[in-house]
Amino acid sequence: MAKQTVRMNSGKMKAIVYEKYGPPEVLQLRDVEKPTPKDNEVLVKVFAATVAAEDPMRRSFTFSPLFWLPLRIIFGLTRPRKKILGSELAGEVEAVGKDVKLFRKGDQVFGVDISGLGAHAEYKCLPEEGVMAVKPSNITHEEAAPVCGALAALNILKYVANVQSGQKVLINGASGNIGTAAVQIAKYFGAEVTGVCSTTNLELVKSLGADKVIDYTKEDFTKSGQTYDVIFDTVSKSSFSRCKGLLSQKGVYISAVPTLKVLLQMLWTSKIGSKKVKFSATGLQPLPKRLTLLKELIALIEAGRIKSVIDRRYPLEQTAEAHRYVEKGHKRGSVVITVEHNSKT
Ligand SMILES: NC(=O)c1ccc[n+]([C@@H]2O[C@H](COP(=O)([O-])OP(=O)(O)OC[C@H]3O[C@@H](n4cnc5c(N)ncnc54)[C@H](OP(=O)(O)O)[C@@H]3O)[C@@H](O)[C@H]2O)c1
Repeated sequence: MAKQTVRMNSGKMKAIVYEKYGPPEVLQLRDVEKPTPKDNEVLVKVFAATVAAEDPMRRSFTFSPLFWLPLRIIFGLTRPRKKILGSELAGEVEAVGKDVKLFRKGDQVFGVDISGLGAHAEYKCLPEEGVMAVKPSNITHEEAAPVCGALAALNILKYVANVQSGQKVLINGASGNIGTAAVQIAKYFGAEVTGVCSTTNLELVKSLGADKVIDYTKEDFTKSGQTYDVIFDTVSKSSFSRCKGLLSQKGVYISAVPTLKVLLQMLWTSKIGSKKVKFSATGLQPLPKRLTLLKELIALIEAGRIKSVIDRRYPLEQTAEAHRYVEKGHKRGSVVITVEHNSKT
């Protein structure tokens, strides 16, 4: 098949741009240069993206003091280096660079680019060797963009916690993006799953397969008297010291969020005691590992074992509104940005 030449991609596109760190108002809809794929890149016409929990954090730069300076150096000391946010996306390959072998024009794809960002736009370039794949045909673009959040749940439950059939697993924050994926994946591994969420999300978490649900507005799960092999806190609302008594003898407490306390406890418990604290940043895993996770995730999607939970959809133009909602910290699953392509590009 003839490859689309990169020259045909020149022109303008709509994107949500931010020039300085700050409140949602810093996000502006602009006409910017449409990207041109390098020799090893594909140009994706974006149909859906997400506003993930990290997007408002990057925008306002509300990272923990521990990471503030290193992240500021990476993301831009005085102003953001990458001016378009958004890491998860799904869409159609519009053109490929001359060395690209894995994709061709017209492929329906999905993927995640946590370092490149740029998904809150009509078009985005990704390296063909990036965390991207042809979209399973049994999900829509809107369902495909947020499903990348499941990579973190899969990484942590399979490779960090090594969840086995029959184990007891508690997921705190079971109604969030990682939490909804974690409940489904832990069930897939045959675990007995307890999900912790608020009253309005009890039915949702049950519908995802949780055997038990605990309403955190009514009950403190750390006082439940139950024992778990794995406690996975996706939203960093508990602590190892409060959960230690609930862990089985070789139980593991995992946080999705790397606080200083978690990192120190991880170090300490790696040397002493049978109960461990663990953390893993999925986005920092070597590329082959992330591609393995993506393959495993696709198999789960195709088998109908995992589905995205979509809370709200916003058009690209209302991305600032989506940020306002996401940064409240109570989204159910994911918030999707839908990208229409009515305008001339
Ligand atoms: N380690 C990794 O590889 C990795 C990868 C990606 C993201 N992350 C990090 O993981 C964290 C979670 O991400 P996410 O996308 O899953 O977040 P999210 O979707 O924004 O989480 C929102 C959910 O948290 C629940 N929640 C809020 N307060 C709670 C509480 N006190 N107890 C229990 N649940 C509560 C909310 O439910 P209610 O409305 O019912 O309160 C809501 O459903 C973020 O900090 C993100 O940066 C880590």
